[in-house]
Amino acid sequence: MLDLSDLAGLIEAWRKDVVYFVKSQFGVTPSPQQAGLLNAVAKPGAHVAAKSGHGTGKSTTDAWLILWAICCFDDVKIPCTAPTKHQLEDILWTEVKKWRSRMLEPWKSSIKITSDKVTIEGMPGMAVARTGRKENPEALQGFHADKLLFLIDEASGVDDTVFEVARGALSTPGARVVMTANPTRTTGFFYRAFHANRESWDCYTLSCLDSPLVAPAYVEEMEKEYGRDSDIFRVRVLGEFPSGGDLQFIRIADAEAALARQLDPRAYAHAPVVLGVDVAWFGGDRNVIVLRQGLYARILWTVRECELAVLSGIVAEKWDKHHASAVFVDATGIGAGVVSDLRMMGRQPFAVQFGGGANDAKYKNKRAECWGLMRDWIAADSGCLDAGEYAERIKDDLTAPDYCYDMQGRLQLERKEEMKKRGIASPDFADALALTFAQPVAPAYQNIKMPILGRM
Ligand SMILES: Nc1ncnc2c1ncn2[C@@H]1O[C@H](COP(=O)(O)OP(=O)(O)OP(=O)(O)O)[C@@H](O)[C@H]1O
Ligand SMILES: [Mg+2]
Repeated sequence: MLDLSDLAGLIEAWRKDVVYFVKSQFGVTPSPQQAGLLNAVAKPGAHVAAKSGHGTGKSTTDAWLILWAICCFDDVKIPCTAPTKHQLEDILWTEVKKWRSRMLEPWKSSIKITSDKVTIEGMPGMAVARTGRKENPEALQGFHADKLLFLIDEASGVDDTVFEVARGALSTPGARVVMTANPTRTTGFFYRAFHANRESWDCYTLSCLDSPLVAPAYVEEMEKEYGRDSDIFRVRVLGEFPSGGDLQFIRIADAEAALARQLDPRAYAHAPVVLGVDVAWFGGDRNVIVLRQGLYARILWTVRECELAVLSGIVAEKWDKHHASAVFVDATGIGAGVVSDLRMMGRQPFAVQFGGGANDAKYKNKRAECWGLMRDWIAADSGCLDAGEYAERIKDDLTAPDYCYDMQGRLQLERKEEMKKRGIASPDFADALALTFAQPVAPAYQNIKMPILGRM
């Protein structure tokens, strides 16, 4: 039993020994990898960088560090950042809440958690969550305190401008900095911490093979799906940087450029209108219809829950309204129902099997081919993507999947199932756009009357 009669003594001991803090507060034993990180952070001025496979407990370690610092240092500031709101709010903050609920009293009731702050009653210390994107370069800036603990989760995806702006703050004497990530990129601040700037960082590699938190089945599945030599296996299992450049299939900058682009309608008016229909499989996924006409695409319609028959009716309505020359429906799983409904209506939709064969032998399957052509459309052809209120969402979708090459040198995209395990939503918006590339569509000259491009 913990002796709470000498609180000052206990806090002093916790300050020096984070593993002891974690064991006594949460009743849990950190894995040896987590303990290594926690011990390293205990030293004032520590600069710790950890590259890791999936699920070794990095975000949890960050959550423990937030609660440790807030309990043990009276005027601590803890700026926390990650590339997306999802990473911060749905993952890191959720972990903070989970572990707070296991704490001892009086800490459990005195720690307050809001959407972007963690504080402790009667003390000025706080943790603050700010996304580390290009649009928010001040994420780690503006913190002045004697005691600073910077936590950067998924640091591989944090934009370099954020680190540039925070350079002074990060090098404040005594400030602790902890960067953790799946090492997806071979450029940027996180990569340099393991290479050019190695002298300034205490570097760790957390392989799933050595983690008691990762189920062996995960490793086996990844090996079976992508192969031990693939970059996806290196990054997501071994915690090593990819050998063939960045793992991300579509670059954020390219997706942003497509979303910002404006096109004169004369640049695409001659092209056939095609629709891509992604059908939601599970609760939480979305049904999405995307219209593409040559270089121009926009989201026509989306809804979460929808009866299949209703969805089929909506597809038929959009088909007529926009004079579509071709309609591509994801026919894997329940999407087959929409295809059969449309056929019953006397229409001829294209049933796309994402898992089926590609037209071009350089792609492992149809999905990789559709995404490959979509990437060319975005990056090489300067496609214009009008996503309205869904711009952020489709940007996340487009940039979510990893890629690698299989044993036959064919391009392969990360499977949705694996993405889900990483906590990433099904990329329904991007899949709907990708579907519009399933087959080439000849211009329907009889339809050359100006397309109707009104809002849905
Ligand atoms: N020492 C531990 N004991 C028990 N459960 C733990 C421990 N460490 C982490 N967990 C749990 O394991 C799960 C995975 O941990 P976490 O999300 O921190 O991994 P991660 O390395 O950040 O994963 P990702 O690579 O997806 O970012 C979480 O549910 C977390 O609560
Ligand atoms: Mg994590």
